[in-house]
Amino acid sequence: MKALKKYPDPHKHVVLAQQFNNEYLTELFELTDKIKKSPEEFINTLRGKVVATLFYEPSTRTRFSFESAVHRLGGSVITTENGKEFSSASKGETIEDSIRVISAYADMIVMRHYEDDSSKRGMSASLVPLINAGSGKSQHPTQALLDAYTIYENFGTLENKKIAVVGDLLRGRTCDSLVYLLSKYKGNTFYFVAQENSQVKQSLREYLLENKIQFVEVDNLDAILDKVDVLYMTRVQKERFATVEEYEQAKGSLILDSKNIQKMKEEALIMHPLPRVDEVTTGVDSDKRAKYFEQAANGLWVRMAVLKILNDNT
Ligand code: NCD
Repeated sequence: MKALKKYPDPHKHVVLAQQFNNEYLTELFELTDKIKKSPEEFINTLRGKVVATLFYEPSTRTRFSFESAVHRLGGSVITTENGKEFSSASKGETIEDSIRVISAYADMIVMRHYEDDSSKRGMSASLVPLINAGSGKSQHPTQALLDAYTIYENFGTLENKKIAVVGDLLRGRTCDSLVYLLSKYKGNTFYFVAQENSQVKQSLREYLLENKIQFVEVDNLDAILDKVDVLYMTRVQKERFATVEEYEQAKGSLILDSKNIQKMKEEALIMHPLPRVDEVTTGVDSDKRAKYFEQAANGLWVRMAVLKILNDNT
């Protein structure tokens, strides 16, 4: 598997899951293992460096784990957590101008923005490494890295797995990044489980068809539970619906609870990028297959590794 030329080198910017390749993931996972084992060895990695976290959409895990990662690597953070209202975007400034200016103040930029193409636009204007922390409905590449790391940690491989991605696949972004990443590994089959009005995006469908990757689209969660190695649940993206009625129609139909998990394989992983709403009941949390809190915790170590690699290559 090779990174395509049209995508940036992930040692320079992290904007799309398609830019990752086996080499990068091996380097990243080895470094993540080391950081996770002995974080104190990395406390001077970003000494004297400033990282800007620029969030135009809500976030808990992503912003805090990035900021914690910077602090634990010895760097400092400048931040706006409500960029839509509190940055110059509210005055009409373009992403390009904001990033061009901020890249003179910071050594790296972590950006979450509601526009699908925000990270590509930001990258084109940035003088420093830019990390996409979520771009509209399109991508969330560092989430895919921590998801893949968690799968790798549990199975020792990213190959030959049956992966179900469940929920709002049309409006969510974590699904796309994870599938682009895992589709580079051989033998994986994807089950897209969603209501008809929330099924996987046409762009992802076309990518999988072009690359001859096995996938099926279904609307019944219970029918596939006994088949999968990884069950990746996602929430219905309330804030991305045009009307409340449309949201009401889509929500609450694909639910994992302590009853239907009985159908799953003993060694399967139950994952979720979080936040959850009602798609995974709290009754599932104590099951040994539930990995979502472990997954969120891995976000810190993986993001420390992403930041170190970018810093080492500038
Ligand atoms: C996800 C996101 O922002 O896309 N959250 C996260 O970063 N873990 C998932 C979501 O909001 O549903």
